[in-house]
Amino acid sequence: MAAAGSAIGLGNIWRFPYICGKYGGGAALILYLFFVFFIGMTLLLSELTIGRRTGHTPMKAYEALQPKHTMWRYVGLAGLITCFLILSIYLVISGWTLNYFWESVSGQLIGVANGDFAGHFAAFASSPVAPVVCLVLFAVLTLVIILGGVQNGIEKVSKILMPVLLVLVLVLCVRSLTLPGASKGLAYLFNPDFSKLTWEGVLAILGQALFSLSVGMGVMIVYGSYIPKNDNLFKSAMWITVCDTAIAVLAGVAIFPAVFAFGQDPAGGPGLVFNVLPVVFNSMGAVGSIVFGGAFFLLLAVAALTSAISLLEALTAWGADYGKKRSLSAILLTIVSCALAVLAAYSFDGGILNSYKLGDMSLFDWLDKLTGSYLPPVCALLTIIFFGWFMKKDSIMDELSNHGTLPTPWFKVFYSFLARFVAPAALLLVLLGSVFQAEFEVSTVLIVIALVLYFFVLPLGVAYVAKDKGRKNVLWYFLSIVLTPLFALLMLIALGDSGEKHRQRLIDDEHIRMKARESYKSSIAKE
Ligand code: TRP
Repeated sequence: MAAAGSAIGLGNIWRFPYICGKYGGGAALILYLFFVFFIGMTLLLSELTIGRRTGHTPMKAYEALQPKHTMWRYVGLAGLITCFLILSIYLVISGWTLNYFWESVSGQLIGVANGDFAGHFAAFASSPVAPVVCLVLFAVLTLVIILGGVQNGIEKVSKILMPVLLVLVLVLCVRSLTLPGASKGLAYLFNPDFSKLTWEGVLAILGQALFSLSVGMGVMIVYGSYIPKNDNLFKSAMWITVCDTAIAVLAGVAIFPAVFAFGQDPAGGPGLVFNVLPVVFNSMGAVGSIVFGGAFFLLLAVAALTSAISLLEALTAWGADYGKKRSLSAILLTIVSCALAVLAAYSFDGGILNSYKLGDMSLFDWLDKLTGSYLPPVCALLTIIFFGWFMKKDSIMDELSNHGTLPTPWFKVFYSFLARFVAPAALLLVLLGSVFQAEFEVSTVLIVIALVLYFFVLPLGVAYVAKDKGRKNVLWYFLSIVLTPLFALLMLIALGDSGEKHRQRLIDDEHIRMKARESYKSSIAKE
């Protein structure tokens, strides 16, 4: 239940519909189902197995399984960094849901001028105070629950609230399906249009499949370590996958017919849920708007809360595994992720930091892309390579069959086919494909290389130097000394490049405006 609570979150209700909408509706859905069941579930089962086998958080788990090749633990670290980034963007969006909950129950959404919810959302998300207050509130709530003990509080609460969420999604589906013109939305969701499916889309959908199951970042290793030894891991993985997918598809069924019935854009991006659903609630009258709108956004916030808690829990457990005090790690992590979240909130469309861009994307867009598209597939690839090729087959079999007491007719397909070949090949293919297809600006590529060098290679080197006193030290010292100015240089070139592009764009815009003014003047003169 806890793992399902982690998996079912904003990813299902907020992110899945807009990803589907952006990349061709049904085409995206088919691909998503394929990715979820063949790759996502394979990873889920692998992570649960690693976790239960070792009883550790990711870094220590990899160490325990491969004591000789300690480099593997950095795969665990990369996953935890991904968790941290997800937590930050999660706080921003969860804050939005809190705000919408409040606006629904207080009746403010009924009075939105001309029913312009897109404008309302844009104004709210770019305002300087409200989103930040909401996200800090949400972070404090998460922290308080972590500090107060997860097992007794939140698990009991989520066992009640998750079914309620399901009921509410179903009610919304019914309402949405009975709107005039609903069939267009269904057709959009279920009729595949492969022309909209770009490589970028394939990567985004793969990323979404992993994101939605919370795999590829080690959280399920942490949860695996909590699973009793006599539970059936395969069944658990199956249940989590089915529940998670069902909620995502139902959210799509609730949203798309309404999108079409009210003439909205199905590819509305991150604002989709916030722009479109209030329209639907308002169509149910004032009471409907307050009751259904309030309940929906409350439950969305609860779904987000159970996921945010598990993110903070995974990070806190990591500290605890290394002997750090739980409460102290939880507080520090909350403060740092709040700081990043505030910056991300300000960088959203129209916000005060929105004009600071790297390769045409704001910090918010970067976090969304990194945590949704790029990082989970990379971490997942490394995880599955470890699982399929570096873990002992016998110990996997032993763990999955509960020491030979469970029948495992699916083992061959799972291990020899999916885990060793299909999943790594698919992940690699999609990643490579998107690298070759993407039209990155030079500046973006440079900055990404610089960041990777600086934040991954350099610490690795320092860690290495600190540990053994071999002759290789010299190389790392040299690299550390060379890398710092190189980092600075790359950043300078990159920023200069994007600054140049920005200036050029301003000049172009000015030209267009000048031409418009001239033609306006001449038309006046003619008259
Ligand atoms: N699966 C969550 C969702 O669908 C998001 C998520 C990704 C997550 N990774 C996580 C949640 C790790 C908790 C822990 O919204």
